[in-house]
Amino acid sequence: MSDVYGVILAGGIGARMGNKQFLELGGRPILIHTLEKFVLHPGFQGILVLTPQAWMSYTRDIIHRYLPSAEGIEVLQGGETRNETVMNAIRYIEKTGRLTDETIIVTHDSVRPFVTHRIIEENIQAAKRCGACDTVIPATDTIVESREGGCITSIPNRSYMYQGQTPQSFAAKKLKDTYEALSGQEREILTDACKIMVLQGEKVELVQGEVFNIKITYPYDVTVAQALLGMEI
Ligand code: CTP
Repeated sequence: MSDVYGVILAGGIGARMGNKQFLELGGRPILIHTLEKFVLHPGFQGILVLTPQAWMSYTRDIIHRYLPSAEGIEVLQGGETRNETVMNAIRYIEKTGRLTDETIIVTHDSVRPFVTHRIIEENIQAAKRCGACDTVIPATDTIVESREGGCITSIPNRSYMYQGQTPQSFAAKKLKDTYEALSGQEREILTDACKIMVLQGEKVELVQGEVFNIKITYPYDVTVAQALLGMEI
């Protein structure tokens, strides 16, 4: 039996819109909405929530307040970068002595509260099968590439293009080993965890996301999220 951990990435400081993971949506912090989706899934051995150090005790408080009966949640310190936050989660599992070749992590942006049970389930299955997966939706707009921001350098065939969402799920030990084999400079460039695997020639399966699995990034997204929350009930 392989252990499966939910890993909620809330370690960002939010250069664009502040610590949006703690903003309230429908009377509860966004992070709580997201975490609840993982708590309600029966497949997790544990759920790790990673936040900036200064927010750890507040995070424990709101989990206690809004999800008092939830068990197996650990609040840990995030890292300097998103990938370092993921690595802190894996290092924690390693410290508890439970990291094996079979350990799976389902990593998810704390600011994507509309993830579904199906998406989480398919992530677990794909990561067990393949070792890595990414949640995506087909690109609806044509993607235009411009290397210097002035003129088009290429227009890739839209039918090959997808937009990346989360969760992204991995065989945790393999991801850690692959990440640690990178140079410091490579680590800086690789902002996406799936890219770590792709660049090493590892297979990353696609899991079908949802258009409504949005990432709350700008004030506009909060308005959209309020409308989506109304539709969920
Ligand atoms: N994240 C993290 N650790 C980091 C950076 C980001 O866990 N060192 C998390 C964020 O908390 C968020 C998710 O990764 O839930 C997606 O991050 P993103 O919105 O791209 O970054 P933020 O740092 O939150 O915001 P900004 O890009 O505006 O700075």
